[in-house]
Amino acid sequence: MFDPAGKGSGRPVVRSVVVTGANGGIGTVTALRLARRGFDVIGTARSQVKADVLVAAAAELGLGLRTVVLDVADPVSCERAMALVEEMTGGGAWAVVNNAGVPQAGSLEDVSDEQARHLLEVNVLGVMRICRLAMPAMRRRGAGRIVNVSSGLGRVPWPLGGWYSASKHALSALTHCLRVESAHAGVRVCLVEPGAFATAMLDRAVADLSAAGGGGAGYERTRTLFTTVNGRVPGPEPVARVIERSLSARRPRARYTVGLDARLLVPLHTVSPLWLTDWVKHTASGLPRTRSGHEAHLRDPEPQPRASAGRETA
Ligand SMILES: NC(=O)c1ccc[n+]([C@@H]2O[C@H](COP(=O)([O-])OP(=O)(O)OC[C@H]3O[C@@H](n4cnc5c(N)ncnc54)[C@H](OP(=O)(O)O)[C@@H]3O)[C@@H](O)[C@H]2O)c1
Repeated sequence: MFDPAGKGSGRPVVRSVVVTGANGGIGTVTALRLARRGFDVIGTARSQVKADVLVAAAAELGLGLRTVVLDVADPVSCERAMALVEEMTGGGAWAVVNNAGVPQAGSLEDVSDEQARHLLEVNVLGVMRICRLAMPAMRRRGAGRIVNVSSGLGRVPWPLGGWYSASKHALSALTHCLRVESAHAGVRVCLVEPGAFATAMLDRAVADLSAAGGGGAGYERTRTLFTTVNGRVPGPEPVARVIERSLSARRPRARYTVGLDARLLVPLHTVSPLWLTDWVKHTASGLPRTRSGHEAHLRDPEPQPRASAGRETA
């Protein structure tokens, strides 16, 4: 492990780290943890009000951190925020943790182009845009670190979460390419793949399922699954710990998979035949395997409340 604050060198070197989406879930816990460990943290939030909440949470713990307002889906906001970071740090951040992300649940028939485009804008294009804006300073310095937060679902595509899985799969591919392309500049690039951790994200996925136009057995079962998982999984601290490790290690790993669920499911999914993973997904999601199974669901005299009912009451 190396000394991120440069305490052993006689010349204190404080390393500046930008954490995107730092006003909630994994981002908040990561920002606070890094601040506690001596990093100069610049947390981003989509509004000043949200940024102030983060600063107040840090102050309550006796920690200091700075913030900038950033919407990763807005190219102008990205350029403005990264220019401000360059000013605040006197030459650009040493590291960026691309944590900001959104879910999008719903069958591929139910998710509109507009919803898919927004998801890809935040989870893929926005992340790579921030990488592109952060890279010149890292290259000038000959050192830097980029940590992109993907998901175990990027390697385990899950029905009714297809677009989310696709966005994280794309992010993984781009991150692995960026690592090779930027190694000569002294920039280390890591991918973090969390399993399920209790944050607002799963609640949002449940809300998506309630609001979607389709419905049926798969929606109801998946909603129940997500709600149950959210109630049982740990908070996001393990992810923050791993992100800190990726920034503190002299030679960080290319990929960190976090959480028992992801560490079991990802390798199992990789080695299993498709018929088996399809069977597991049908069983877990409640999506009928056959036409007659679907018709039986429609004839169900006491069907589960359908997703469209959720939308009416939302
Ligand atoms: N929790 C899990 O189980 C899990 C599992 C695997 C991967 N992940 C990944 O971990 C990351 C953090 O998720 P989380 O669980 O901590 O979710 P979260 O609590 O919903 O936090 C997401 C953060 O991203 C921000 N964000 C959303 N859209 C943004 C945009 N356009 N520009 C800038 N910031 C934006 C949110 O800001 P607002 O508050 O303004 O919306 C929020 O601060 C995501 O990339 C997610 O895909 C989470």
